[in-house]
Formats: sequence, structure tokens, C-alpha cells
Amino acid sequence: MMHIDIITIFPEMFQGPFSVSIIKRAIEKQHIAIQLHNLRDYATDRHKKVDDYAFAGGAGMVMLIEPVDRCISALKEKRQYDEIIYMSPDGLLLDQDLSNKLSLRKNLILLCGHYKGIDERIREHLITMEISIGNYVLSGGELAAAVLTDSIVRLIPGVLNDETSALSDSFQDGLVSPPSYTRPRSYKGWDVPEILLSGNESKIAAWKLDQSLSRTSIRRPEFFDKLKKNK
Ligand code: ADE
Repeated sequence: MMHIDIITIFPEMFQGPFSVSIIKRAIEKQHIAIQLHNLRDYATDRHKKVDDYAFAGGAGMVMLIEPVDRCISALKEKRQYDEIIYMSPDGLLLDQDLSNKLSLRKNLILLCGHYKGIDERIREHLITMEISIGNYVLSGGELAAAVLTDSIVRLIPGVLNDETSALSDSFQDGLVSPPSYTRPRSYKGWDVPEILLSGNESKIAAWKLDQSLSRTSIRRPEFFDKLKKNK
């Protein structure tokens, strides 16, 4: 079973996303174990301090190395980790390839940063990789860790009911999805494309591929550069 340990000062931020839908079911079916670790439990002083002023000034507080080191060391005594990941806006940009790779790993630690940053020595000595979920700054690493976890968990075999459904996801084959429609056939005069009602399977497949290709060239032209490179 895959194991994800999340180190955070706000464990309660994960309760919503992890208690519904696919992640909830993946936990119940024991495809994944997710454990939240409150960094404050690893603080050494009686005020449970996990941050301090930056040396040489600068705005904002910096996350202390000691509680992070104590927490990671305690976790490492229980299992070996494939990656110890720091969620950071200047990390490696998350994409489907990276989620696919991480979904094949067994044990991961996700460290959520806060304040103005974390002591650089954490990044130098304790972390094996840094991941960003996009070029924008969040208030902390928690939402990013929840996004990363979701994108990984749905790829674990058996998590999705229809095993093909993660494979046919938009992005999985380097293309965006074709449009889909459901009833009614006509709504306010807005009609479902006739071809989808034709029952001609090979024509429908060709139409869907064509839609995927043209949408990809408009919405994600850079995907084609990647496809070419992979060949
Ligand atoms: N922490 C703050 N912003 C972030 C981002 N964009 N990605 C990952 N972690 C973050």
C-alpha cells in the first residue's frame, strides 16, 4: 500500500479534501494511507514554536529546522522514503508526467511550508525534491499538498472504478479531452452534435480524436512539442 505522510502546522486543512469522493474511497479500500503530522508536536520549547525571525532581517518569519528534522527523523525510523518533497512555489512544476511517476512510488513525505519560507538548510539537507503546483503564491503548502495527493491517488491501480478512466483522462496521452454531452439532445435550441447520436462507432472515434487534436492545438499547443520530443 502506498503511504503519504504530510507534515503541516494546519492538519485540519486536509480534512475536507481527504474525507470525500475518490480519496476517501481510496483510503477506505486501503489503496493509500495518508497520515497527517502536526509540526508543533515536534517543537522543542514550551511555546511550541515552529518559526523565528530571519537572520539579517527581511520581512516575515522563517520555519525552524529543528522541529522539521525531528519529525522527518521520527518518520524515517518507521519506513524508507522514495521522496521527501517540499511544497514550494519555486519548485519543479507539477504536471501529469510527474504525478504518474510519483504514483508508482511507495512512501512519500510532503512538507508544507509557511511564513516567508523555511530555513534553507532544510532544503539542502532534508528534502529530496521540491514541487510547485503553479506559478502563483499560496498562503502555505497545504492546498498544494492536497492537490498533489489527489493527482497521485487517482492514478493508483484500483482506485478508480473503471480502470481505463484515469488512462483516458485529459493529459494522460498528451492531448486534452474531446467535448462530452448528455441529455437532452436539444436544449434551448443548443443541439448535441449529430455524429454522437449516429451510432457509427468508427466515425464517432474519428470525430473525438479530431476534436482532441484541434482543441490541443488551440489550448495546449506546447503538448505537441512534447509529443514530438518523446518520439
Ligand atoms: N506554497 C505556496 N505556493 C505554492 C505553490 N504554488 N506550489 C506549491 N507550494 C506552494
